[in-house]
Amino acid sequence: MPSIACVNGMFSAPEEARVPIEDRGYLFGDGVYETMRCYQGRVWALDRHLVRLERSLREIAIPTALIPSIREWIDEGARRSGLWDALVYVQVTRGVAPRQHTFSSDLIPNVVMTMRATAGVSEVDRASGVRAITLPDQRWERRDIKSINLLPNILAKQRAHDAGAFEAILVEPDGRVTEGSSTNVFAVFGDTLQTAPSDHHILGGITRDLVLGLARREGIPVQETVFNIDQLRSAREIFLSGTTTEALGVTTLDGSPVADGAVGPITRRLFAAFEECVRGGCDG
Ligand code: PDD
Repeated sequence: MPSIACVNGMFSAPEEARVPIEDRGYLFGDGVYETMRCYQGRVWALDRHLVRLERSLREIAIPTALIPSIREWIDEGARRSGLWDALVYVQVTRGVAPRQHTFSSDLIPNVVMTMRATAGVSEVDRASGVRAITLPDQRWERRDIKSINLLPNILAKQRAHDAGAFEAILVEPDGRVTEGSSTNVFAVFGDTLQTAPSDHHILGGITRDLVLGLARREGIPVQETVFNIDQLRSAREIFLSGTTTEALGVTTLDGSPVADGAVGPITRRLFAAFEECVRGGCDG
């Protein structure tokens, strides 16, 4: 199935798509984005992603008037590509202007989209869980905005990759665990599932919300409260959530096994509920 790109409503192959070099996204990282997942040809949780995109835009004072068009382009892209299991990337930047830090309010935002097939997480990782390392969280204080500025995230992810790990779990100087470089982090303490509260310290993940809802439905006690790195090391289970990751067990943390080193029962139960939900056409 073909990958597809779209720049301001113009569809093409990704390698043919172009934006001007003075786009502020390119010059400054001045923009926001969403990564969505297509299951069985249908963009999952599109409404929720568009609500978050609109909020991100508002928070950095980029006009939101293009949101209805973006919805149409996503629908059109899904139809044109015929992709079944795919990742949809949408980026909105402030627009094109000669490089200076200040911006005028009349710039026209640029909207870029790609849709590509995805194989998702491997069966082996799903069954055995993945390794994670911990690293200092070096990001700004508005992590709730899904900014295309991802330098600390990509450097952390690369360090994890170089260490043979799947994810870097980020930790504040006071020991507070925030999230992964591209995922939210859940841990099981006793019989309670815990994840950091959705505030400015983390990106409020769409998958995180779904997992919390599923856990409550399954009768698993849930707490949205901060935990620190020492607590995390004693967790019975750890898993990551995210659009590309779904719910994925972490079985090794900084080289040591998490509990008995196997994907835990709550992680397995929630992943099964997650799969049933997204493949069954629920919208979160
Ligand atoms: N990343 N935290 C961070 C820092 C993220 O970048 C992401 C998603 C998440 C999970 O959010 P969601 O469940 O809405 O995908 C949490 C996407 C996948 C990305 O960067 O492509």
